[in-house]
Amino acid sequence: MPLVTTTEMFKKAYEGGYAVGAFNVNNMEIVQGITEAASELKAPVILQVSAGARKYAKHAYLVKLVEAAVVDCPEIPIALHLDHGADFEICKSCIDGGFTSVMIDGSSRAFEDNIAETRKVVEYAHARGVVVEAELGKLAGIEDAVNVAADDAQFTNPAEVEEFVSKTGVDSLAIAIGTSHGAFKFKPGQKPQLRFDILEEVSRRLPGFPIVLHGASSVPQDLVKVINQFGGAMPDAIGIPEEMLRQAATMAVCKINIDSDVRVAMTAAIRKYMAENPSHFDPRQYLTPARTAVKEMVSHKITEVLGCAGKA
Ligand code: G3H
Ligand code: 13P
Ligand code: ZN
Repeated sequence: MPLVTTTEMFKKAYEGGYAVGAFNVNNMEIVQGITEAASELKAPVILQVSAGARKYAKHAYLVKLVEAAVVDCPEIPIALHLDHGADFEICKSCIDGGFTSVMIDGSSRAFEDNIAETRKVVEYAHARGVVVEAELGKLAGIEDAVNVAADDAQFTNPAEVEEFVSKTGVDSLAIAIGTSHGAFKFKPGQKPQLRFDILEEVSRRLPGFPIVLHGASSVPQDLVKVINQFGGAMPDAIGIPEEMLRQAATMAVCKINIDSDVRVAMTAAIRKYMAENPSHFDPRQYLTPARTAVKEMVSHKITEVLGCAGKA
């Protein structure tokens, strides 16, 4: 099947009590590792591209790689999504350039400005059959969101979501409930926690509406150990416990964003390979286990966290 939007994926995920994985892609090995896992497990999948990825690999290369994956995996639905589009211009460029979904991230803007920019993207996107994700609330930083319970400023304010969704016409909404980007989400000794009460209140106010979780890597400690054992330095890398993500996936969360865990998996595989094979210098030699590590990570997410195996 051709590239799809996320509309049907999210409808089925909401009704089925599971989530679809959105994995960041930057090169061929990552695209192949993700889509081979999804294909084998008959899972829908979202391949997402950040502004940094577009700068690194170039728009045309990434689109062609994803189109190649669609040819290679014809039996699963694949969406191509812009991750964290900063403004209308980058969203337009991706809509015009073959993406089926874009995120306009107005979370750092004032509420009215976020509405205005999101509305502009929605009008342009919907006229061209493309869907739009927006964000309300800022993703938690370590101190702000998790330890300082009194300071809710970074969390999504549920009282704003109905007005935001009705005024923008957006198709899905990323909310801030305590997740954060990167591999260092909590301080050592800090207890990871997510504000499921906010998620519940948002979904009560927006029945049937798909919610998105960013910053949802779990940073597996066995892989961090491999990285550190083979010359890396990632002390105190900590992520979101998988059981919390599993719970979110059964609720209104239909899309779970994972980037750091794929990075950690690749880096662990490459560091180990390099340390054990110092004379090798053919990139295919170390990129083969790296690609396998991506596939294993994504397979694990699909079966153990997202619950979307067999939902293609
Ligand atoms: O949310 C951010 C993603 O992990 C993408 O990261 O901007 O380094 O490509 P990046
Ligand atoms: P992680 O850094 O937790 O993988 O989050 C990725 C993300 O939210 C991409 O938008
Ligand atoms: Zn994100």
